Amino acid sequence: MTNRNRKAVVNQKDKSNHALRYRGSSTTPQDDEDDSDGEKRIWGLSVRLIILSACFVSGFGFIMLYFNAASEMKNVTETNYAELVNSEFNLQNYSFATDRVNIRDNASLQEFTKYFDCQLPVLIRGVVNEWPSMKWNRDFFKSHYGNQKVPVVSVEGAMINAEVKTMTIEEFSQVVPDGKPSRWHYVQDELFINRHDKLKADIGEAIYFKENFFKLFPEEIRPWDAMLLWGSAHSRSHLHIDPYNWTGTNAVLHGRKRWKLFPPGQDNKFYITPNQMCGFPLNCYKYNSPIDSFNIDDEKYPLFRNVNYIEIEQNAGELLIIPPGWFHQVYNPVETIAISSQIMNSKNYNIILKEIIAANKLISDAFPDDIESYSPKEKVLFILALLPDEVIQRGRMITDQIIQQFYGNQ
Ligand SMILES: *[C@@H]1O[C@H](CO)[C@@H](O)[C@H](O)[C@H]1NC(C)=O
Ligand SMILES: *[C@@H]1O[C@H](CO)[C@@H](O)[C@H](O)[C@H]1NC(C)=O
Ligand SMILES: *[C@@H]1O[C@H](CO)[C@@H](O)[C@H](O)[C@H]1NC(C)=O
Repeated sequence: MTNRNRKAVVNQKDKSNHALRYRGSSTTPQDDEDDSDGEKRIWGLSVRLIILSACFVSGFGFIMLYFNAASEMKNVTETNYAELVNSEFNLQNYSFATDRVNIRDNASLQEFTKYFDCQLPVLIRGVVNEWPSMKWNRDFFKSHYGNQKVPVVSVEGAMINAEVKTMTIEEFSQVVPDGKPSRWHYVQDELFINRHDKLKADIGEAIYFKENFFKLFPEEIRPWDAMLLWGSAHSRSHLHIDPYNWTGTNAVLHGRKRWKLFPPGQDNKFYITPNQMCGFPLNCYKYNSPIDSFNIDDEKYPLFRNVNYIEIEQNAGELLIIPPGWFHQVYNPVETIAISSQIMNSKNYNIILKEIIAANKLISDAFPDDIESYSPKEKVLFILALLPDEVIQRGRMITDQIIQQFYGNQ
């Protein structure tokens, strides 16, 4: 299991909060660690400067392309959308992929795989609205789980003042209706659903998540697969790319969300501090922007003025799937309950493995010459086996601490 809740363990103020998740090291912060050494060892190429066309490239023979930060955005047309769909392309090429989020009713797995997976965001209707979890709302949680503790991100004033607190559901239910632009609260808890079988059973299956290589990960460092997101009006996430550049999913059960999604290839406009690490036991690079795209400080972030993005509003019962490498930020205009999760499958596993290799400084000398002939599953298992034992041990220790803090007396 990974440990997004570690920030909550120490209850510390997290001003540089990454994606408003709680994963971050409470014990050994590594945010400013110098990684130049690790980068040089990986494939003999500098990871930071490269965007690879990994979505469609099977095997470790990555076609690596230098990321040209100065490249201009091209205009969006149906023609280049079709071109994109029919060609192998790299993340940079996403930048002219679309001017809107496509909406599909109950997309088939084939349609998802062919047109969207690892390429374009898609909003899927007709799936989540069938899930029993559509009944979840404030009263439901209050009456069934009122005395349970959850980690809550609270903001007074600007987002930079985000603070992680522990509250009971009962306490949270009292503050959550009262969201204001300058004061809001947001439960972001990866353990809660996973610790309650009845809640887990309320979540339906979506065909798009069926292939899931995260299941191959040791439990101690595996990302939890259902994060509870319950925020007051005006609550929002940071502007970020998900950990390990995975494919992100979000199912709204109550309320609605407003998204800003930024095609890859414009990283230079986000004012990212390079080489920041998330500090989880299974480490990752942190791609967090200090910009609040729903309240932009134009003076401070002039490059952001001409950034390309697409927007969509997601209603209860709808599922949004965000491809790797897309910066995104979400805003809840009303009190909203949702579940987020992540996908690692045969389309995106190379991107995720590469991030894991780089962030954990796994050395390419250890890779066998014939690694290209491994199946995706074999490659994932091979890379995981290279992780030092202490990574797993730290994962276990931190998970135990979180469980003790939130569930210790039950
Ligand atoms: C982008 O895609 C086009 C085909 O649509 C291809 O010719 C070109 O090489 C790609 N560019 C990059 C940087 O991958
Ligand atoms: C969605 O599509 C699947 C087949 O892809 C089908 O089995 C299912 O019944 C459909 N669901 C709805 C609600 O239409
Ligand atoms: C992950 O996303 C970041 C930010 O766009 C990018 O710089 C990096 O190259 C991506 N990693 C991979 C392996 O594609």
